Amino acid sequence: MTNLPWTSEYRPKKLSQVQGHKKAMNQLKTYVLNFKKQKKKAVLLYGQTGSGKTCIAHALANDMNLEILEVNASDLRNKKGIKSVVGSASKQRSLFSKSKLILVDEIDGLSGRHDRGGVRELIRVIKNTSFPLILTANDIYDSKFSTLRKKCEKVQLRTPSYISIKSVLKKITKKEKLTVDDKTLKTIARRAGGDYRAAINDLQSIAQVSIDKNLKNIDDRNQTDSIFDALLRIFKSTDIDVAISALDNIDEDFDKSFMWIDENLPKEYTKPAELYKAYDALSLADVFKGRIRRWQYWRFMVYQKTLMTAGVALAKKEKYKKYTKYKPSSRIFKLWRMSQTRKKRKAIAKKIGEKMHESSTDIIQHSLPYIVNMMKKDKKLKSNMSKYFELDKSEVSWLLKQ
Ligand SMILES: Nc1ncnc2c1ncn2[C@@H]1O[C@H](COP(=O)(O)OP(=O)(O)O)[C@@H](O)[C@H]1O
Ligand SMILES: [Mg+2]
Repeated sequence: MTNLPWTSEYRPKKLSQVQGHKKAMNQLKTYVLNFKKQKKKAVLLYGQTGSGKTCIAHALANDMNLEILEVNASDLRNKKGIKSVVGSASKQRSLFSKSKLILVDEIDGLSGRHDRGGVRELIRVIKNTSFPLILTANDIYDSKFSTLRKKCEKVQLRTPSYISIKSVLKKITKKEKLTVDDKTLKTIARRAGGDYRAAINDLQSIAQVSIDKNLKNIDDRNQTDSIFDALLRIFKSTDIDVAISALDNIDEDFDKSFMWIDENLPKEYTKPAELYKAYDALSLADVFKGRIRRWQYWRFMVYQKTLMTAGVALAKKEKYKKYTKYKPSSRIFKLWRMSQTRKKRKAIAKKIGEKMHESSTDIIQHSLPYIVNMMKKDKKLKSNMSKYFELDKSEVSWLLKQ
């Protein structure tokens, strides 16, 4: 088993290794080839997290033999940062006169009022740049980008289908000489909701667990798998039959499932009216739960179940097209989050982020728990990762305490 995060190990290096996105990649290539003639001096490459924006930009530069200058927008934030880093790079000819591509990654990070200056400065840089700029974002329809949108050529990465994701997973299992049955790959791919990064991380975690032959872990995993499936059916469907049977095949008792739904609901439903309606259903379910306990009215179980599942599912008009990482409502996890010294975490995440081409926020949210887990499980992996990420001893020991 390779000893690095597989999202790094198997990151496509050339466009030909990228799954799908053919149309978008052609648009990008054509744009860069004809850059001198372009009226709009930047491309806005957008699509959901983990759909391949960053790796496509790098692969493009590699294929076209361009030197790439990458800056993470969330690490620059304001006007000054943009101006000094991106602004000056957009004018200098590169060393050895290789031509250049500038990647301003994750401009969603330029958020909030006091960052407006950052967006405006970016527009100024676009006007004067001598090199093609690629800006990436998850969501470009935010009002703060309304002017920027007009100044850029837009290229969309469509949310990958689970079939595309599965085929990437399959290739990785082949290279790792792992046998993972098709059904498992399909489940992982489905659960990822269009996020390659999440799917690959899941695959690596599962592979690690089975290599450890840690039966307890596998059991836990299976149980959580089914609650994840149940949450997907409740949160992502608007079909009453799909939702109502969501809790039928899971082992957890109703109370525990209730906590899972309760914990994750606000992460999934972001429209206030829908969130309100869903919580209304949940609290009614809670009322029935109380009656069952107090008066032993078991027939109320049906109501409780219906409200928890269909009640929550039908509170939304349509499913939210995004990937939400569902989390157990465990005390331990909360303590973990609270106890960590933010600064240390951020510093470590930044180091890792530099190697993985992700912002520190992204690392903290999406990758750090996996990395910690992997390091804890395997000594070799621990030392390889520490070296690769250039972490010092105190950082490693801090990580392992998490
Ligand atoms: N189209 C793709 N084909 C193969 N692997 C992909 C693809 N898109 C993403 N990945 C994998 O997922 C990881 C995260 O992709 P990334 O480009 O960082 O996503 P984004 O920048 O859109 O959040 C990559 O390191 C790579 O391993
Ligand atoms: Mg990215």
